[in-house]
Amino acid sequence: MTVPAEFIRAHTRPERPPLVPEIQLLVAADVVALWEAMAVEQGRTDEEPPFWAAAWPGGQALARYVLDHPDVVAGRSVLDLGAGSGLVAVAALLAGAERVVASEIDPFGLAAIPENAALNGVSGIEPVGDLLGEPPPAVDVVLAGDVCYDRIMTERVLPFLDAARTAGAEVLVGDPGRPYLPHDRLVEAAVHDIADADSSAGRPARIRRTTVWRLP
Ligand SMILES: C[S@@+](CC[C@H](N)C(=O)[O-])C[C@H]1O[C@@H](n2cnc3c(N)ncnc32)[C@H](O)[C@@H]1O
Repeated sequence: MTVPAEFIRAHTRPERPPLVPEIQLLVAADVVALWEAMAVEQGRTDEEPPFWAAAWPGGQALARYVLDHPDVVAGRSVLDLGAGSGLVAVAALLAGAERVVASEIDPFGLAAIPENAALNGVSGIEPVGDLLGEPPPAVDVVLAGDVCYDRIMTERVLPFLDAARTAGAEVLVGDPGRPYLPHDRLVEAAVHDIADADSSAGRPARIRRTTVWRLP
């Protein structure tokens, strides 16, 4: 199913993620109302939450990293794995990436990505669906923001990232301290303390120590 761009614009508002204020992102004004509207739009009740309507800490840390270190992506081909809103893909284009592919399984995310790109004056992000379980595409850099959010997803993601690294890609993972990552075989590239997106719902901000990890 294709989600109309009007749906994305009607249920979100532009905000600047705290760690990457250079970028504007369409985020949920009301997560619960948006989730309900997604179910109605899709005609089903088992819809995943609107992962795509927030700037996750891991994505913010990775976006910050490529904006601060544009040489990592400038003139290179990039895969944003689990792109969500496309925050990391947008940052890669702003940092000078030649080509950016965004892998996302949620049709709402796939609709949000070009909207977020346009909001930031970039375009051309190539959408793809689920790549896990396949050989990684031939790209120079793989960026994975907050994709190790549960054990099953992590078990699918890690072999994919290892295969990309073995094929010669630079692989960077942004992660807010989730327990599933094998930290002992990753190299720390940057660390940030980031206020959780939950704080926008009136709860006190939870600070998430978030690391950009490199596969050696
Ligand atoms: C926690 S969100 C992170 C989004 C974004 N990277 C960020 O940091 O803001 C994880 C995203 O992974 C997506 N996802 C889950 N399984 C996937 C798969 N097999 N392939 C691509 N994306 C997937 C989800 O739909 C969700 O948008």
